[in-house]
Parts: sequence; C-alpha cells; structure tokens
Amino acid sequence: SRAPAGSCDDGPVSADQAEREAGKRAAARAAAADVPHGARVGLGTGSTVAHLLPALAERNLDLRCVATSPATEEAALALGLRVEPFSALDRLDVAIDGADQVDHEAWLVKGGGGAHTREKVVAVAAARFVVIVSDDKLVERISGPVPLELLDFGLPATLRRLAHAAVRDAPRSPDGGVIADLGPAGTIADPAALSAWLAATPGVVEHGLFPPALVDEVVVGGPGGVRRWA
Ligand code: 5RP
Repeated sequence: SRAPAGSCDDGPVSADQAEREAGKRAAARAAAADVPHGARVGLGTGSTVAHLLPALAERNLDLRCVATSPATEEAALALGLRVEPFSALDRLDVAIDGADQVDHEAWLVKGGGGAHTREKVVAVAAARFVVIVSDDKLVERISGPVPLELLDFGLPATLRRLAHAAVRDAPRSPDGGVIADLGPAGTIADPAALSAWLAATPGVVEHGLFPPALVDEVVVGGPGGVRRWA
C-alpha cells in the first residue's frame, strides 16, 4: 500500500528529516543549474543525487551521462537522460555526487551506499568534481567507520590484515566486490596516512576516503539557503 502523504516507508517524516531533505534538494538543484549544454556528466549515487537527476533532466541540456550505480542509471534513464557506458568516454566535464561526511578541509567519507569505487573512478575522470550535501553532513573532522570494497579472493586473509573491518550486510558491488566497513568509530586523526595504507593493502579494491585534492566544489544546502566552497 502507498505510504500516506508526509511519511516515508520507515514511518512519519520528522521535521529534521524534512529539513535535511530540503537541504539535499537545494544543493542538488544549485549544482544542476551550473551544468552547461552538451556536458559529459558523471552521476553519483544516493538520495541527494536522486534530487539532482530531475533537476538535470528538466533543463534539456543534451548531456552525455555516466552513472555510478545501476540505481542511478535506472533513475536517469527513466527521466530521459542519456546514459552511456563508461567504456564509451575517457573523460568527463563534471561529476556530481553526495557524501556521508565533509570536513573543514574537504576530506570526504563516501560509500554509505557501497558505490564508492565507481564513484571515485568517475570523480577522478572529471575536470570538476562537485559534492552536494545537506548541512548536517558537515563535520569538523571525518570519522570512521570507513566504507571499503574488498576482493572476494582471500577475503578472510584481507579482513585479518585490516583487523577492524566487518563485512556489511549488503549486496555485492556491481563489479562483484564485497562491501565492508573499517572501524573503529571515531575521529580519523590522519586521513592521508589511512588512505595510503588502505590503498597499499592487497585485497582492498577501494576505500571511501576522498581527499581534498579531488574536490573542486562543495555545495551545501541548509535552512539559510545554499552555500558553496571552491
Ligand atoms: C554512496 C555514496 C553517497 O554519495 C553517500 O552515501 C551519500 O548518500 P546520500 O546522498 O543518500 O546521503 O557515497 O556510495
């Protein structure tokens, strides 16, 4: 049965949830307004990107899009956006995506939806990577757990080496990777060092730490309107 107006599948929508959703929508629409005609666009994954897709589609910009997940691809196609396989494009003009956390330096934690591997591949291929968030995603310092995608081959050995990682109760990635989270919860004192260690750990396909050097702009939606940092 359909959920009554003002509620979602998980129950009534609180004022906080409604405010967060409005912030996501405002950030997504502001980012969509900057996309030029004919651009090659990387589409992220998640509930904030779900607001981006209709905002892009209604502008009729003749875009060539690449999606970071089957869910985004399906939603984009349903709205009439042209989605191409990433094998058809070797670079993008802009990639737009949400994040789970954004700190004051623009370190990101991504991968709440387990799509961080494709999201990172798409972000690095773009001339501009634009992050769209509601203001509750802003933190002073990013904290764990850190989402991981792990190779199935040798999984127990990789988990043992990682020591504090737990496999997430989630489907595999579209590329067959196992989604996991590296704890413990708590502030990450040195994100660059943790990123380097994860990148050098065999069996880790990708991790959800995105460095500030990758981020060109953060668009933040909140009760006071939309703010941008470049
Ligand atoms: C998916 C992601 C998402 O961008 C991140 O989880 C934010 O999601 P949402 O916009 O639903 O808050 O990294 O892997």
